[in-house]
Amino acid sequence: MAEVVVVDDAEAAGSLVARHIAARLEQQPALVLGVATGSTPLPVYAALADLANQGLDLSSVTALALDEYVGLPQAHPQSYRSVVTREVVEPLGLDPAKVHVPDGDPAQIETAGERFEQRIVDSGGVDVQILGIGTGGHIAFNEPGSSFGSLTRVKTLTEQTRRDNARFFDSVDDVPIHSVTQGLGTILRARHLILLAFGESKAAALAASVEGPVTASMPGSAIQLHHHVTVVVDHAAASELRERDYYAWAQLNKPAWQGI
Ligand code: GLP
Repeated sequence: MAEVVVVDDAEAAGSLVARHIAARLEQQPALVLGVATGSTPLPVYAALADLANQGLDLSSVTALALDEYVGLPQAHPQSYRSVVTREVVEPLGLDPAKVHVPDGDPAQIETAGERFEQRIVDSGGVDVQILGIGTGGHIAFNEPGSSFGSLTRVKTLTEQTRRDNARFFDSVDDVPIHSVTQGLGTILRARHLILLAFGESKAAALAASVEGPVTASMPGSAIQLHHHVTVVVDHAAASELRERDYYAWAQLNKPAWQGI
């Protein structure tokens, strides 16, 4: 079972995860960090940026993004390449040469998945993967029905995902229809998964992912197959978890040496 940590707010989650990553960096400066886009991980990046301002050196870190829209030019402000540059690479002081995002260029899209899988292998594999979850239960852009064995490939976005992401664009029609995304099988190879969720709109997908049946219809439930998963959520996102009391009890009684 995943470890579930319920915190008061997104800021507390950000600082918990950032401190964990900082501690990992002390042992392994060339950490390979899997970065998610979307609103959810922003408090983690903000807390890491604070630590960077206080002297934490992240210049040896390799960052691998989960996904990219197909057909948005890299320079488009909402391409995940731009988002990762703006929200992660610049504030954290990462080396841009060590930051990789799947290639959403339609001219070479047929090989984008394979090339990104090779990139992950060449980097030595992801040590810590930050994940968010969509309201329909998708992780990265693995929409319901994605195989648990899937690797990086092109996926068609659901209309719900396009509506959810329309807030970043002028209109829903501007949200691309396709993405190139790490598969669930790719994500499950990362050594540690940290899934974050905040707010009531995530409660149902979160509960289904953590406690529901393991099914491709709920891509987030793939985390139940992983040996090291930490779920960090606020009270609203945790509100539909049946075993909330147990998770709180387990946290109170957790041996200090274990960390997250
Ligand atoms: C996006 C991304 C996911 C993200 C999810 C939730 O479409 N591809 O990686 O986790 O949807 O986004 P948010 O954190 O903004 O709610």
